[in-house]
Parts: sequence; C-alpha cells; structure tokens
Amino acid sequence: MAFEKNILCIGAGYVGGPTLAMIAHKCPQYRVTIVDINPIRIDQWNSDDLPIYEPGLDEIIKETRGRNLFFSTDIEKGIKESDIIFVSVNTPTKTFGAGAGMAADLQYWEKTARQIRKNAESPKIIVEKSTLPVKTALAMHRILTSTENEVRFEVLSNPEFLAEGTAIKDLENPDRVLIGSMETPEGLKARNELVEIYANWVPRERIITSNIWSSELSKLVSNAFLAQRISSINSISALCEKTDADITEVARAVGMDSRVGNKFLNASVGFGGSCFKKDILNLVYLCQYYGLEEVAEYWRGVVSINEYQKERFVLNMLSTMFNTLAGKRICLFGFAFKANTGDTRESPGIFIAGRLAEEKAEVVITDPEALKNAMADLDGLEAKISYVKDPYEASTGCDAIAVLTEWDIYADLDYGKIYESMTKPCFIFDGRNILDHERLFDIGFNVFPIGKPAMTHFS
Ligand code: NAD
Ligand code: UGA
Repeated sequence: MAFEKNILCIGAGYVGGPTLAMIAHKCPQYRVTIVDINPIRIDQWNSDDLPIYEPGLDEIIKETRGRNLFFSTDIEKGIKESDIIFVSVNTPTKTFGAGAGMAADLQYWEKTARQIRKNAESPKIIVEKSTLPVKTALAMHRILTSTENEVRFEVLSNPEFLAEGTAIKDLENPDRVLIGSMETPEGLKARNELVEIYANWVPRERIITSNIWSSELSKLVSNAFLAQRISSINSISALCEKTDADITEVARAVGMDSRVGNKFLNASVGFGGSCFKKDILNLVYLCQYYGLEEVAEYWRGVVSINEYQKERFVLNMLSTMFNTLAGKRICLFGFAFKANTGDTRESPGIFIAGRLAEEKAEVVITDPEALKNAMADLDGLEAKISYVKDPYEASTGCDAIAVLTEWDIYADLDYGKIYESMTKPCFIFDGRNILDHERLFDIGFNVFPIGKPAMTHFS
C-alpha cells in the first residue's frame, strides 16, 4: 500500500512511543516509524513486553505494529524517507557546567538536529515534541541551515501534554493540541499540515495555534501551574496538621469555586515524575538568564515546598515512632511516582527510601509495576532493602506502612489481616489519603494521614 505521508519520530520513550502509536492508530493512511539509539528499547517495542507500562497501549501497538507503525534503530534511513520528523528525545536537567542542576541538557536534542541536517535529502517539517526552553526553535533552525545543504526545513513546536498512566486517554481525547510556528508563509503552511494530521481525530476547536515562542513557553508554564497547585495544597496540609483542619475539606471548599476548579488539589507526599521539577527549574533558569530574579524566586518556591513536603513526611515518621527508626521495618506501599505507571523517575519513594536508610531502618518495598525500576534506583544504597510484590507478604513483621503511591489496590486490602501480621504498635502513614482512616484506627492502627488530624491509641 502507498502511504500518504512518511512520519518519523526520533526518541522511542514515554512520549514518542505512545504519541506516535496514536497517530498510527488514528491515521492508517500514514506510515509511522519510531527510531531510537537504544537498541534494547527498540527490541522491547518490537516484542510482547513493551518497555513502558501504560493502560491501553498494548492493544494499540498490537493493532498497528507491522501495519503502519514500525520501530527501528536505523535513524539515517528514517530521516531520508520521512516528510515530517517529530523529535522526542530526552531533555533532562543539566548535571554539569553552567546551569548545572537547573538548565535543560540539550545535548541529545542537538545531536538529533545535526543528524537530521546530515542525512536529509528532501524538504522536511521538524516538530519539537520534547519539552524545550523557549527560543530553542531558533537554535534548531540555525543548526539545520548552517551548511550548503539546500534542503528546506520548517521547525514547529508541538509540546506534549499527556500524563503517564492516562497517556492513551489523553492522546485520544486531549484538552488541546498546541502547534506553534514561525509566522512566515512557509511556517503557516507547515503548521496547517500538522493541524491536518491531528484533525483526523481531534475536534478542530481543540487544535490551537500560536507563534512558536508562545508554544514553547506554554509547555513549561503548563507544568509549572500544575505543580504549583500541588505545592499550594501541600503547603496548606502542613498548616492543617497543626490546626485540626482537614485538607480534604479545605480542598473541596476552595476547589468548588469555579475560578479555581477542583482538579489537582490532592495533598500528597510530594509530586514526582520526570518533568515537573525539571521543567520548573528550567523556567527558573530562563528567568534568571533574562535577569528576572523575583520571577525566578517565585517559581523556585514550588520546588522548595515539594522538597519540604517529602522531608516533613519522613520527620513525621521519625518523631511519631519514638524518635528512632533504627532497626524498624518500614513497608513502602507503592514506589511509582503515581498510580498506573511503572515509572519511578523523581519518585518521592527514592528520597524517602534514602532517608529511611540514613535512619538505619529496614525498608520493604511493594509495588505492582515499579519494582524493577525501584531496584535500579536504589542500587548501591547502603541499607537493608527488600522488594516484595505481594503487599500482605511485604508488610508482615513491619512496624509501619507508608503509602507513597495511590494504587487502587491499596485501598481494598484486608487491613485486619495485615494488622495481625505486623509488629505492635502498628503505624500507618497515608501519604496519599486513599485509605479508610477511621476503619484502620478501629482495627488498631495509629493513623497518620496528610493534612488531617492523626488518630492514635496512645493516651
Ligand atoms: P525518555 O527518556 O523516555 O525517551 C527519550 C528517548 O530518546 C530515549 O529512548 C533515548 O534513548 C532517545 N534518544 C536520545 N537521544 C537520541 C538520539 N540522538 N537519537 C535517537 N534517540 C535518542 O523521555 P520521555 O519521557 O519520552 O520524554 C521525552 C521528552 O518529552 C522530554 O523533553 C520530556 O520533558 C517531554 N515530555 C515527557 C512527558 C512524560 O510524561 N514522560 C510528557 C510530556 C513531555
Ligand atoms: C505531568 C502533566 O500532568 C502532563 O500534562 C505533562 O505532559 C507531563 O507532566 C510532562 O510534561 O511530563 P505526569 O508527571 O505524567 O504528567 O503526571 P501527573 O498526573 O501530572 O502527576 C505528577 C505528580 O503529581 C505525581 O507524583 C502525582 O502523584 C502528583 N499529584 C498529582 C499530586 O500529588 N496531587 C495531585 O492532585 C495531582
């Protein structure tokens, strides 16, 4: 079959894989190829054991792979054959040199740009899918046009807003698709071409266009606003614990104001994930770069509150459990940074396990999907750590349970049975407020939710 377009995605990760699989699923008239430098990842995409866990993804891959979706390590061939190239490589926080710990590390992105320039033989639309600092498209354009190569490139910005765990739902039914372009006739033409791809399944009123800098910046700002809501509610959770107010009641009262809205107001042990912290720090760095110290300081506060919340959670465990955790067995319910994913990048679990190890506690970790990643994250940590899939077995003989991920299964366990198997007195620290606290208290647990009065059996 002759395909209408050849679409390439460079970077077969959490974004590139699901996003381009959705395009292949919705648009059988296009041939979609996803390439990566990592051959193991590509082998996994070509197997029945996909490299990422995402509800609904397996079905889409099964339907499209070999039909109009292909995974490969042949990046050069992919570039030569494509009309449109999505760049979805990782852009982590820089760990060296100027801006270390804050700025985005653009080395993977730049290598890709140079590789495209070297191998392209026909005009191409280059789509920035990775999250990038504002003005990156200018650098991309300069790299692409810096040789005698006569090939014409148009650079677009099309940031991705999917959240892990709901990626397929988000891609199928996005709140909005944002496409930014240069406002030249060629830029607008390229923009329309990308609009038409999404219009295969996204209602047109939800496909919004803008100038390219607004698009790049909107992605960083969207993540900053989302994370800011969590830090706002988490900061208030600390005040609730001091004043007998209940964070769930406060969040409900505040969120019912339609100007505020009720989503993303769940107090927690802290936000994790590969992007919130990295993108806010990138925003902070950009503000500093442009001399906007006050603005930088404002956004830095969102990250600081998150660090505070994680530390506060551990200190609460320490003071509650008689100021010593040495030799105590503590079971972490969940290690993924959120439910329905096996991803543990920047998960609060990493910090908390590390701090518990410093206190010389024994840590038992259970999680339905993230144990393999947890082992890799904690490799080399000097501590007694065990990894146990079954939560009943994991909590047996423990002094405390700390709920770190809001997996549904943790709300439905037989806590009477768990209580019987634990060392007394038993403590439960609900870092997600997903358990039935009254019931746990009645069973005999000393219960410590986030942002709510503690319930203890001590006089
Ligand atoms: P990831 O690490 O899962 O995937 C990136 C992939 O790019 C890796 O497989 C890596 O091997 C590959 N790669 C790196 N350099 C390459 C090169 N030169 N050629 C070919 N492949 C190369 O990262 P991710 O989570 O998919 O994130 C990608 C981008 O999307 C980041 O900028 C991130 O901020 C952004 N983003 C992520 C999410 C998310 O939920 N994870 C959501 C929205 C946006
Ligand atoms: C987030 C954004 O939601 C996506 O729109 C964005 O595309 C993505 O980052 C990205 O750029 O990488 P993600 O990190 O996958 O998606 O997951 P979220 O649902 O946003 O959760 C992030 C963290 O905040 C998790 O640790 C979650 O448990 C925590 N969270 C979320 C709370 O603590 N409280 C809430 O009310 C909501």
